[in-house]
Amino acid sequence: MSKTLVIGSTGNIGLLSLPMLKDAGIEVTALARSPDKLAGIQGINVIEGDLENDFEHAFKDCDSVVFTAGSGASTGPDKTLLIDLWAACKAVDYARKHHVKHFVIVSSRGADNPDALPSAIKPYLVAKHMADEYLKRSGVPYTILRPGRLTDDSGTGQITVRRPENSDDQCIARADVAKVITRVLSTGQSKNVVYELYKGETAIADLIA
Ligand SMILES: NC(=O)c1ccc[n+]([C@@H]2O[C@H](COP(=O)([O-])OP(=O)(O)OC[C@H]3O[C@@H](n4cnc5c(N)ncnc54)[C@H](OP(=O)(O)O)[C@@H]3O)[C@@H](O)[C@H]2O)c1
Repeated sequence: MSKTLVIGSTGNIGLLSLPMLKDAGIEVTALARSPDKLAGIQGINVIEGDLENDFEHAFKDCDSVVFTAGSGASTGPDKTLLIDLWAACKAVDYARKHHVKHFVIVSSRGADNPDALPSAIKPYLVAKHMADEYLKRSGVPYTILRPGRLTDDSGTGQITVRRPENSDDQCIARADVAKVITRVLSTGQSKNVVYELYKGETAIADLIA
């Protein structure tokens, strides 16, 4: 059975992903700085670790990695640098050292070109961009997911990878991002691919065959 390390396991997308991965027959190890947040979830391995410190111990025997951690909107640029950029790069280094076969990272819409829009979140987009580039150049097989604005809707299982023209439509349910993560890992496809993700009208299973 393949073993996947989920980094950011206690976050919104992380918590949605854990049972989906488990149900897909994937053995899950969840890295958490506060393991008590995962107390109600059965059937996963939990490893304690803080992304601001060394967390290489979590990578032992993992075939694949999901990095869905983030510093969040309520922290400052210091945490953007330390989590969205630096911790992501450290995770890539650990993955390479441990011969991880697939690294799935949750990046962001706009990380392709942070200069494209006048944006208050440009430092965040630069951090995401540089982490994505670091992963691409690492030699570790990757899938980069760049969702639009995340919502807590229940999700439809239907998405598009084409950016809608209207910015109000550039959103996706976290539940659908979790489904994409699960689909990508359970098929083992979509290596060395970058997807933008938005709510849409195509079944995830059809887009990620
Ligand atoms: N919000 C949006 O509209 C949007 C759009 C596109 C992409 N994204 C990206 O999508 C990703 C996931 O979003 P989300 O809503 O699921 O995020 P979230 O709920 O804020 O989850 C963030 C996760 O990162 C973990 N984390 C942060 N600092 C850590 C540290 N020092 N050590 C260990 N874990 C740490 C958190 O752990 P704790 O539970 O311990 O805090 C949590 O598990 C993020 O990378 C975000 O940037 C967001």
